[in-house]
Amino acid sequence: MKVEEKIKEYEKGIKKVLITAEEIQAAIKKAGERIDAIYDGRPILLVSILKGAFVFMADICRAVHVPCEIGFMCAKSYYEGTQSSGVVKITMDLDRDISGYHVVIVEDIVDTGRTLNDITKILKDRNPVSLRVVTLLDKPSRRLVDFKADVSLFTIPDYFVIGYGLDCAEKYRNLPYIAEFGE
Ligand code: IMP
Repeated sequence: MKVEEKIKEYEKGIKKVLITAEEIQAAIKKAGERIDAIYDGRPILLVSILKGAFVFMADICRAVHVPCEIGFMCAKSYYEGTQSSGVVKITMDLDRDISGYHVVIVEDIVDTGRTLNDITKILKDRNPVSLRVVTLLDKPSRRLVDFKADVSLFTIPDYFVIGYGLDCAEKYRNLPYIAEFGE
């Protein structure tokens, strides 16, 4: 198979572009200004939840102008039936004590809300000075727990989306835009 054909095969999963790369960058610029205004020169620690938020993290950290450190953590959720919280497992933790920090969690998407609900509880228990959540996408129609991000860039319908860090079976994270996935 030729390279072009292989790429076409890969791109079959891209049903429709929902948010272009340009729209994402414009929204990130605005979000950076909002974060600058909230913290008003105070230093922050941006905490990205891997893997989905790695692209968003790379852009949002360059859109803020307050003194900024970065950290990464990896979480997996284990839920069955109607259980709504308490079973998120940290598979890779932060490399520092967050007490004394203004922490900003950087997440790709709030779907059921369970992951962020659990992670904010876990991080609050570690006594940061403050804790806020910035999310690229929000799917409010899917919510199972009452969770609201402090800053949310785009609200989307109940579509499974890929691109800009979000995956389907680990693929499509490298797309520069957000698309609806479909086969
Ligand atoms: P939660 O349901 O809010 O706990 O979402 C947990 C995680 O599910 C998110 O951080 C994403 O990694 C993943 N997820 C939710 N919706 C989508 C989607 O439409 N595409 C890709 N990943 C998603």
